[in-house]
Amino acid sequence: MPALVLLGAQWGDEGKGKATDLLGGSVDYVVRYQGGNNAGHTVVVGDQKYALHLLPSGILSPGCTPVIGNGVVVDPSVLLSELSGLNERGVDTSKLLISGNAHIITPYNVTVDKVSERFLGKRKIGTTGRGIGPTYADKINRVGIRVQDLYDESILTQKVEAALDAKNQILTKLYNRRAIAAEQVVEELLGYADKLAPYVADTVLVLNEALEQDKVVLFEGGQGTLLDIDHGTYPFVTSSNPTAGGACTGAGVGPTKISRVIGILKAYTTRVGAGPFPTELFDEDGEALRRIGGERGVTTGRDRRCGWFDAVIARYATRVNGLTDFFLTKLDVLTGWEQIPVCVAYEIDGRRVEELPYSQSDFHHAKPVYEMLPGWSEDISKAKSFSDLPKNAQAYVKALEEMSGAPISAIGVGPGRDETIEINSFL
Ligand code: GDP
Ligand code: IMO
Ligand code: MG
Repeated sequence: MPALVLLGAQWGDEGKGKATDLLGGSVDYVVRYQGGNNAGHTVVVGDQKYALHLLPSGILSPGCTPVIGNGVVVDPSVLLSELSGLNERGVDTSKLLISGNAHIITPYNVTVDKVSERFLGKRKIGTTGRGIGPTYADKINRVGIRVQDLYDESILTQKVEAALDAKNQILTKLYNRRAIAAEQVVEELLGYADKLAPYVADTVLVLNEALEQDKVVLFEGGQGTLLDIDHGTYPFVTSSNPTAGGACTGAGVGPTKISRVIGILKAYTTRVGAGPFPTELFDEDGEALRRIGGERGVTTGRDRRCGWFDAVIARYATRVNGLTDFFLTKLDVLTGWEQIPVCVAYEIDGRRVEELPYSQSDFHHAKPVYEMLPGWSEDISKAKSFSDLPKNAQAYVKALEEMSGAPISAIGVGPGRDETIEINSFL
């Protein structure tokens, strides 16, 4: 019953795509359980680079069945273009399964996302503008459209009309926008029905049967722990649960089935969009991390905000996810610094605080308390085992492990599949 969850331990973009792809060759199913095409996962295979948004990163491993679970929000036009883009590059996508219970991002959800951000002005979240929040809001308000609705025109029409009743009032009267015609939306959505039909399945049944047959299932999180709607830096978060519990609700698998929870942890920290970020750098070190780490968003092309490693956040991720392992990524990016600051605690209004404060105002005032660790200058991108790393790099990893509360079982030393040091096997 090997069921693994792989998720972001920080604010997203930790290298989840690469980590999932690395394991993809040895697992039977890779399942996205939340989020949608707000995710941007870069996977490098040989000299080929793939940017995936909605499809699970397991799609690039021929033996693996990729699954879009019930907890995901699906933009059908994005999904179809992602599929055809991969097909053109010779990737077989025919095994894909999509839950009939997954919710659809409709064109009006995208519109509402964009106009409401504009309306917020300076207080905006900095969303990806992909309609994620409004689609989850419709789901919780029980006016959402599900994949299965595409196969019953009458129900689809009723649901779109019901959803648009209130939305058109808001669009026209509050946001000063034109109303959206239900017939047009229905027509567009019906146009996707046949194209998606071969993939639609009862994924809950498929996955539970697979686990009963001892198949290996990997649940791939989008975003990260600090972007979680419940456990993240609310309101500067996404609208789903990337944390480990989300894998259960978002895929229909009970918590007793999960055997391992792997947190993907960057050797420093990045964040896209608005919200607090205690170790953020505004100097040349931040610029250097951005340049060397290639820290530019895969989805929106925005520069990522960069800062030093934050052990308080890593400890928090261990706790709220019940992490069994860390996969430390991008250690190679830190090569060349004489000394590397690591945030070990915060100072909040003159007090030293070791754990993430639950109060939003406290977190906004948190100043990092740094410990300096000695750096290294040797190229580490060819390292194959822990002992190949320079002594100071080994000490950096060990210090992070001690502060973060779970063993570091793999280390990324470059973007490629094979640029990874495996310490403990995940399977
Ligand atoms: P995700 O959203 O968590 O999948 O991460 P992204 O793909 O958005 O961003 C991670 C970036 O780092 C991608 O460009 C990866 O190719 C790259 N990457 C992943 N692991 C490593 C690593 O160990 N070293 C380096 N240099 N790059 C890495
Ligand atoms: P991956 O899977 C980094 C951020 C957005 C914004 C907030 C809300 O590549 O790690 P949303 O569009 O989800 O309502 O935006 O969340 N965000 C991400 N940041 N990586 C991601 O995904 C993200 N997905 C959303 O920038 O601050
Ligand atoms: Mg990303």
